[in-house]
Amino acid sequence: MSEEDPDLASRRIAHESLTRDDPTGWFENLYSAAADGAAVVPWDRGTANPLLTEWFEASEPNGTSKTAVVIGAGTGWDAELVADRGYQTTAFDISPTAVETAQRNHPDSQAQYVVADLFNQPAEWQHAFDLVVEIYTVQALPIALQATAIQKVGELVAPGGTLVVIASARAEGQPDAEVEGPPWPLTKATIRSFASAPDLRLIELDESPSPSNPTATRWRAEFLRD
Ligand SMILES: C[S@@+](CC[C@H](N)C(=O)[O-])C[C@H]1O[C@@H](n2cnc3c(N)ncnc32)[C@H](O)[C@@H]1O
Repeated sequence: MSEEDPDLASRRIAHESLTRDDPTGWFENLYSAAADGAAVVPWDRGTANPLLTEWFEASEPNGTSKTAVVIGAGTGWDAELVADRGYQTTAFDISPTAVETAQRNHPDSQAQYVVADLFNQPAEWQHAFDLVVEIYTVQALPIALQATAIQKVGELVAPGGTLVVIASARAEGQPDAEVEGPPWPLTKATIRSFASAPDLRLIELDESPSPSNPTATRWRAEFLRD
C-alpha cells in the first residue's frame, strides 16, 4: 500500500474532525500524525512569524517584569521570540502533542508551555497579561466560533496591556458561505471586532502581502487596553 502524501493527510485529518462537528479535535490528530512523520503541520515555519519579529523591532517593548501569553502557540517559535524579549511567557495550545513538541524543540526555553483551551481558560488568566499574542488561531476556527474566540482573546489582556493579532485577510466582499476553511481568513470588520470591549482600543492596523501567496494579504493589528 502506498503511503499518503503528508500535505493531503493534513487536509484529510482536518476535514474528518470538521465533518464530525468537532472543530478543534483535528489539531491534536494532526500534531500526533506529524510527530509520527505521517503528516506535516502546514503552519510550522521553524522560525517566529516575520510580522511579529517586525513588530518587536519597531515597538522595542521592554518585557522585563512583564507577563505575556501566546495563544495557540503550536510548536513554540513565536513564544520563544516573546520570552527572549524578557517577558515571563505562558504559551498554550489545545493540543497536548503540540505542547510536547514545543517543549522538545526548545529544551532550554524560558517560556512555560501548557495545554489549555482558549474557550475554557483558567480564571486567573482573566485580564492578567501585559502582552497577548494571537497568530492564526481564530482563523483556524469555523466562522460561527470566531466571535466567542475573539472575546476570549480580549479577556486575557491586562489593564494597560497590548494585544497583537496576526491573521490572513479575507478578500474584500467575499461572503462567509464562500470561504472553504480551514482556514477562514478574517474580514476587516472581524479584525476590528477584537476591540469590541469598550476599554480595548485598536491603535494600529496594517495589511501586507503574504510571502507565500502574492495574491493574498495578512493583517497585523495592535490593540491597547485602557
Ligand atoms: C493555525 S495554527 C497556528 C499556530 C501558531 N500560532 C502559528 O502561527 O504557527 C492554530 C493553533 O491553535 C491551536 N488551537 C486551536 N483551537 C484552540 C483552542 N480552542 N485553544 C487553544 N489552542 C487552540 C491549534 O492546536 C494550533 O496549534
